[in-house]
Amino acid sequence: PGPGVLSGRTVLITSGPTREALDPVRYLTNHSSGKMGHALAAAARDAGARVLLISGPTELPAPHGVETVAVESARDMHRAVMDRVAGADIFIAAAAVADYRPEQSAGSKIKKTDSETALRLVPNPDILREVAALEQYRPFTVGFAAETDALEAHARGKLARKGLDMIAANWVGADRGFHTDDNALEVYWPGGGHTSLARADKPALARQLINLITERYHHAATR
Ligand code: PMT
Repeated sequence: PGPGVLSGRTVLITSGPTREALDPVRYLTNHSSGKMGHALAAAARDAGARVLLISGPTELPAPHGVETVAVESARDMHRAVMDRVAGADIFIAAAAVADYRPEQSAGSKIKKTDSETALRLVPNPDILREVAALEQYRPFTVGFAAETDALEAHARGKLARKGLDMIAANWVGADRGFHTDDNALEVYWPGGGHTSLARADKPALARQLINLITERYHHAATR
């Protein structure tokens, strides 16, 4: 992005995985490293924006010049986003938020027994859907879609169902999307818009996506 294309704007970004506690020593999570979300934060910063990054547990350092808030669970991330969204012009949901959490998190370590056991899960708040549905202070809202099949159909479904301004879809699996240094994105927006961002390292891809978001954001603002 050209320097300054987002100056005066605030960009709120989620990044990384969430951890859903089972007890004080165990949790459910996923393979997200935070590389994609953190690269977007750096690219938005370089485009002149004030950037707020809400990050699940990652080993990455907080990007220089970016206000970073560390969270653990989906509910923590939800709270951190909702507390700050009123000041945001653009929201980008790059985090891999757990859709479910254990119904109960035990106060002390669950003891091993010889019998079978089952885990009951309850849904977490959908942060992206809630932000897109805001009536007041609704930012330009960009989601991600991580898919293992039918990428376009699932991504377009999420775009419409969640009422987003744009969605960036990536194939994920053991060897792609999550954790890798590079990625590729299929980007969709309402009205049938689509562009492909070819495989590149995540910082380069993030700069291209920030460019595209800036373009669509200004387009929406001048309509
Ligand atoms: O972190 P990396 O290792 O670099 O990997 C990058 C990535 C693969 C995690 C990233 O590119 C990506 O795809 N992020 C979104 C992962 C995801 O959870 O996708 P989803 O299709 O399950 O969710 C759809 C969208 O809803 C996402 O924008 C997600 O942030 C959001 N969501 C989902 C559930 C929930 N409870 N709240 C949400 O905000």
